[in-house]
Amino acid sequence: MRIPLVAGNWKLNGTRASIKELVEGLQSGISAIKKTQVAVCPPYVYLNEVGQMLADGPGPIAMGSQDVSAEDSGAFTGEVAGTMIREMGCAYAIVGHSERRSIYGESDELTARKFAAARRHGLKPILCVGETLQEREQNITEKVVARQIDAVIDLEGIDAFKDAVIAYEPVWAIGTGMTATPEQAQEVHAFIRGRIAAEDQSVADGLQILYGGSVKGNNAEELFAKPDIDGGLIGGASLAAGEFLTICQAAD
Ligand code: PGA
Repeated sequence: MRIPLVAGNWKLNGTRASIKELVEGLQSGISAIKKTQVAVCPPYVYLNEVGQMLADGPGPIAMGSQDVSAEDSGAFTGEVAGTMIREMGCAYAIVGHSERRSIYGESDELTARKFAAARRHGLKPILCVGETLQEREQNITEKVVARQIDAVIDLEGIDAFKDAVIAYEPVWAIGTGMTATPEQAQEVHAFIRGRIAAEDQSVADGLQILYGGSVKGNNAEELFAKPDIDGGLIGGASLAAGEFLTICQAAD
């Protein structure tokens, strides 16, 4: 059986004070979560502080970064390396989030290199994949998702997915309140698992595939009930401790 994972993607939100309050809120309710792995992904500048709080308080709550540089060191102004992220106590790194792809023009190839950089430094990549509304309407969802996954397989090989997570996040569902129906999500999750299984069945069986896109406390349970949905990557609803814990409970 795959253990569920629920990860909060805080994006570009929070202040020192609000983040402290959020972490304390999560810590006060975490003992009710029995088997689900819980992680939070703060902005880079708060990783150190959040890492300290998570290490010193009730848990377990893991930490991830929202991105990682494909480079390890050198003249790359503004980048943050996997070594640094690992040193702050992160276990995960999100790569290829649709906002990175669409707003910052990050390609499948760059995303695959970031995936490789995360692994090189002992971080579990959470590879985000998903189609835009236009691509869904053109009926090319599977083609798009396959291309995004194949870029990683081409660079790193299928074994790389032994230590990775995939998050299916239809772009049209992110931050819009338009959640994919459980059936729509399950269909793509099954496709993703099948794609991995075509290369290696045991890797596919063990792979956590998360759904992301307007997951809330009141729709999480029906999504997580689907056989190939192993948890969620949560944006907006991860910024309130109570709601995020409700989602973790649904995964439990
Ligand atoms: P959302 O974001 O939950 O606010 O839709 C999900 C994500 O972008 O990871």
